[in-house]
Amino acid sequence: MNASDPIGFFDSGWGGLSILKTARRMLPNENFIYVADCGYAPYGDRSHNFIVNRARTIASFLFDRTHAKALVVACNTATAEAIDTLRQERPHEIIVGIEPAIKPAVAISKNKRIGMIATNRTAHSERYLKLLRRFGKEAHILSEGCPGLMNCVEAGEFDSPKTRALLHRFLDPMIQDEIDTLVLGCTHYPFLSETIQSIVGPSVTIYEPSEAVCRHLKDRLQSANAINTQAQKGSEYFFVSGLNEQRKSVALRLWGKTTPFENLD
Ligand code: DGL
Repeated sequence: MNASDPIGFFDSGWGGLSILKTARRMLPNENFIYVADCGYAPYGDRSHNFIVNRARTIASFLFDRTHAKALVVACNTATAEAIDTLRQERPHEIIVGIEPAIKPAVAISKNKRIGMIATNRTAHSERYLKLLRRFGKEAHILSEGCPGLMNCVEAGEFDSPKTRALLHRFLDPMIQDEIDTLVLGCTHYPFLSETIQSIVGPSVTIYEPSEAVCRHLKDRLQSANAINTQAQKGSEYFFVSGLNEQRKSVALRLWGKTTPFENLD
């Protein structure tokens, strides 16, 4: 592994950009390769085996073809279903994942009534249930699978009537249940934060874990002596399965600056 090698990220689509943005801020000199698996999304409605196979294929592309020095699974669903397999198959690689932030949410919640929104697959995963048993015992936690929500982000509909209607369906029961903290358990949802906040109101704290994930990534790189110390700013390169103009345009809106794209099939 060379410190100048890139860091690979992947998600089923553009949600992982919520992690990549924080990574760019915290690791300004690193080169990033981001894989958006749009052609196979959404992962949240797929089987365990399907997600493991996609994760394995993308990990192999990032490690073996682009020589990534680390992999960030910038997707809660792929972490829940596939990260154990990836780590077993590549025990010497740095592989960082993302999970619903139950532990910090329990710590910050005053009334210990917490909502968690994610894909169906994450909300029902063994890994998440374990997390609840480990860190969620002292709190009342309402977990909700939200099919359709990632599609709103992929379509660039951050505040459309359709997106609001879906959000009300998932969030109204939580508001009635008087949650004071809401965990975003899918990397797509930070792009809906403003709309979500306007629905749940100012008294609910929305927690999204990208800083914690990137801090962990930085620690792992530091321990491996693998921080890129080049003087110039790092670059980004996006690989996309099923690349088309609509996908490109949503990515540019979310990322906020021009970036090279390449189709990945
Ligand atoms: N962004 C993904 C996550 O964090 C998944 C969205 C999907 O493909 O269903 O879970």
